[in-house]
Amino acid sequence: MLSNIYTCAASGIDGKMIGVEVSCLKGQNSFFMVGLPDTAVKEAKERVESAVSHNGYSFPQVKITVNLSPADIKKEGTAFDLPLALGILISSGQLFPEVDLSRYVILGELSLSGQVKGVKGILPMMLGALAAGFRDFIVPAANLREACLAGCGRVYGAANLGEAVGHISGKAPLAPADPNCLPPAATEIEPIDMADVKGQQQVKRAMEIAAAGGHNMLMIGPPGSGKTMLARRFTTILPEMARSESLQTTKIYSVAGMLDESTPLITQRPFRSPHHTVSPVALVGGGSIPRPGEVSLANGGVLFLDEFAEFPKQALEVLRQPLEDKKVTISRVNATYTYPASFMLLAGMNPCPCGYRGDPRHSCKCSSSDIQRYTKKISGPLLDRIDIVAHVNVEKYEFLSRRNDAAESSEKIRSRVDRARKIQLKRMEGSTFVSNSQISAKEIEIYCPLGREENRIMKAAFEAYAMSARTYHRVLKLSRTIADLAGEENINCEHIAEALQYRGSFSTL
Ligand SMILES: Nc1ncnc2c1ncn2[C@@H]1O[C@H](COP(=O)(O)OP(=O)(O)O)[C@@H](O)[C@H]1O
Ligand SMILES: [Mg+2]
Ligand SMILES: [Zn+2]
Repeated sequence: MLSNIYTCAASGIDGKMIGVEVSCLKGQNSFFMVGLPDTAVKEAKERVESAVSHNGYSFPQVKITVNLSPADIKKEGTAFDLPLALGILISSGQLFPEVDLSRYVILGELSLSGQVKGVKGILPMMLGALAAGFRDFIVPAANLREACLAGCGRVYGAANLGEAVGHISGKAPLAPADPNCLPPAATEIEPIDMADVKGQQQVKRAMEIAAAGGHNMLMIGPPGSGKTMLARRFTTILPEMARSESLQTTKIYSVAGMLDESTPLITQRPFRSPHHTVSPVALVGGGSIPRPGEVSLANGGVLFLDEFAEFPKQALEVLRQPLEDKKVTISRVNATYTYPASFMLLAGMNPCPCGYRGDPRHSCKCSSSDIQRYTKKISGPLLDRIDIVAHVNVEKYEFLSRRNDAAESSEKIRSRVDRARKIQLKRMEGSTFVSNSQISAKEIEIYCPLGREENRIMKAAFEAYAMSARTYHRVLKLSRTIADLAGEENINCEHIAEALQYRGSFSTL
């Protein structure tokens, strides 16, 4: 007999429909699985055989053929166990469906005893199946909350093989989960705030500009000056995540198997800070079974590279593409995977190997060739994608020793950032840009026009600092953001003067 059950596979962060066709024919006891299954899928036979046998059914001693279709999609992971087990029970005449299985999508891994275990990628798989027109879903009970994030369809959570069989046979139907009954994701109150950092007004201002215009930023300062402390608070001044951003980032964490099942929806912008020993694959994604890397886990949030100059050159080089494309594409023989990677880059470094160059209270022990080697490690092309370079000094004793009652809260800074972002969205309506940092060289005159006096200043600075075209564009975009923060329609000389401070020529370190 034949059976056909639909299931789903995640490809990148998209769900693809898969048919699991099972045929049981009289003949020599055998088991074949065709249609590009990977090792984890092939091992499904062992798990299914055990789960079926431990639940009062028999694993048929006949010729079993399993066809996973379409053949050209690579199938991987463990979510096919449950549909496979059900298909075998149906095609061997041990289970008679009372529901219309052609409308169902079934997902789940089986333990040897027949428990249904949670799987990765439930949200993208659900969204893929909904787009393909499916409305009924049997998912692992452990993934029920995540499945409900998809927002529609009837979702049944099965804790074990018996529950799935009971539902399909109609003998013990499961109740569909009511998405509205599930409490919304707990909005955790951020325990950290910009107000925790005493003084450092100039760096905080630079971070506000970075947040407002989506500009990548590098902080340079001696050890202990508070770079890491400031960086950790950067997400607290970024605008709240839109629902679409939340879902996209949640999908990435879902396929990475990194969601918290109790509050699966990601509503806080991620902050990722990989150590400088991170491998290029862990940074941008890949591997034999592709996985999203740090740049994708930072999607919608911040990738913080602390001790920037300690990262191997190779690791920094691989960042260039995702910074440009806002996504990562991984090619394999049978498939191409794409993961979004829209993140803000924040970096921190010491001004020299010993850390104390330019520090009035310590003497720097580095030779000029040491320093050159150190700063050269950060490649030109990567530095080109950093709009703001800010110098951080150890805050004065008067600031550190005082209580900090006057310091602005993150909430207050964020409200100005929000306002500036709205101005940008309105100005660039109809374009693909959402923040000033994205303005391309071609559009720069449209969005960042200068008056006569402003032009004169810009020209003088261009000559005085021997700027490259890229630096010139960067200063213009930053000036635009500074004007937006001030709520000014036109860029004026004051805005340009401030932007010039963040130009980041390494000779001024
Ligand atoms: N401006 C500041 N306000 C409050 N604490 C500070 C400040 N600057 C430094 N600190 C303290 O010094 C510690 C070291 O700072 P850190 O951020 O690690 O410096 P860096 O990354 O520049 O080496 C912080 O954890 C914090 O306790
Ligand atoms: Mg640090
Ligand atoms: Zn030094």
